[in-house]
Amino acid sequence: MLLSYYGHSCFYVFFEGKHLLFDPFIKGNPLAQHIDIESIKADYILISHGHGDHVGDAIEIAQKTGAKIISNFEIVSWLDNQGVKGYALNQGGKYSFDFGMVKMVSASHSGTLPDGSNGGNPNGFVVWSHNHCFYFAGDTALSYDMKLIPLTCPKLDFAILPMGDVFTMGIEDACIAAEFCEVKTVVAAHFDTFDPIKIDHQAAVSTFLKNDLKLVIPEIGKAVNWE
Ligand code: NI
Ligand code: MN
Repeated sequence: MLLSYYGHSCFYVFFEGKHLLFDPFIKGNPLAQHIDIESIKADYILISHGHGDHVGDAIEIAQKTGAKIISNFEIVSWLDNQGVKGYALNQGGKYSFDFGMVKMVSASHSGTLPDGSNGGNPNGFVVWSHNHCFYFAGDTALSYDMKLIPLTCPKLDFAILPMGDVFTMGIEDACIAAEFCEVKTVVAAHFDTFDPIKIDHQAAVSTFLKNDLKLVIPEIGKAVNWE
């Protein structure tokens, strides 16, 4: 498994031989202008919810790569109308793909699509194979539903959690989220892109350490290293 960061909530995961891309938002991200969208590999694009900072470049990348979308019914239908095919799940449902299992889990957020269409409910994903399991939370508040993840999924290796506050949970709540989903290693998402969600990296790492958790703050365009 290999993890790379393209800014905001966009992660690339090489998982059981397939290229998974989460929430592509690159062209509109002022911090990700050095990322060459042409170089991004994708077999599947997983979209957590309908907001522009998550569906942003999905159509363009799907058209270039032939990647299939994995998202909720409303977003998959909206993209299907634009010629991009995908697999629809809904909350609590899981489906076995050629790289492993994807379970769609709840997120507490909103999800109107950029053109005002109904994007359905916002979601997170738990992805697993025999070897690995991780949680991509999407945009969400801290939620008691996160306690369902360890009850219904394999043990998590790591969780990708939003923590820029204002639009999602902040750092303190993300520490509680890690406790709820019983994970020790957290990768930060949804921070620094815009002024209101800028975080103090050092303080964030310290807060996680105080809670006996490891926080990895990824760098845009770089592989995510655990050390
Ligand atoms: Ni959002
Ligand atoms: Mn967002």
